[in-house]
Amino acid sequence: HAFFGEAGRLKGRRAIVTSGPTHEPIDPVRYLANRSSGKQGHAIAAALSASGAQTTLISGPTRLADPLGVEVVHVQTAAQMAAAVEAALPADVAVLAAAVADWRVRPAVEKIKKDAGHAPPELVLEENPDILAALAQKTTGRPTLVVGFAAETRNVIENARAKRARKGCDWIVANDVSEATGVFGGDDNTVHLIRADGVETWATMRKRRIAERLAERIADALNHTPKHEG
Ligand code: CTP
Ligand code: CA
Repeated sequence: HAFFGEAGRLKGRRAIVTSGPTHEPIDPVRYLANRSSGKQGHAIAAALSASGAQTTLISGPTRLADPLGVEVVHVQTAAQMAAAVEAALPADVAVLAAAVADWRVRPAVEKIKKDAGHAPPELVLEENPDILAALAQKTTGRPTLVVGFAAETRNVIENARAKRARKGCDWIVANDVSEATGVFGGDDNTVHLIRADGVETWATMRKRRIAERLAERIADALNHTPKHEG
């Protein structure tokens, strides 16, 4: 069916995608965050949906429009993202592309004032839940395929392989975000797809193309597995 291309290969499948940064409040007007445009995660949600998957996108704050045909849950914090992923289950595949803040602050109820004569406030950080590790290590209700991301600035493949093993996810999409690549926040990306049996290095291409290729790999992998109920 060459004419229809990839369309419909994920029909009857359920997908969860996370995207964007999370914002961790410091007080009512300030937050901790990281640099993530959400472009790659949103493109993956759109590609899975275009392949026929019933797709829920759980997005931190971005400047992007909600992809058409995708159910979007907007969240701010890592804790909210973790709860939204849990609420979106069951799923056949989960692609966790969000740049989740590793730490949160116990937020002040009132705006912290820059009072003259006082030392700057100290932020006490606590670790956020690891959404990917929790999902990948679920004993019941684990998606058939759990895919994580790893943004690395050095030893990209080596670090990403270790991350895959540590978290217990099936695949890791690893990308080099060192300044030399110039990809951060842009429309292009250079990634390696890391699986148990090896590494595929993809040429630099549009985030949209990467998303489509990942959706193809996901469809190939799910092809012979039974569909999730619900
Ligand atoms: N991730 C997550 N929850 C967290 C942190 C990360 O779900 N609290 C997910 C990301 O969405 C991504 C993967 O884990 O799919 C890897 O994130 P990354 O920040 O590269 O991994 P960390 O374990 O936080 O390691 P690092 O020290 O390199 O930040
Ligand atoms: Ca991290």
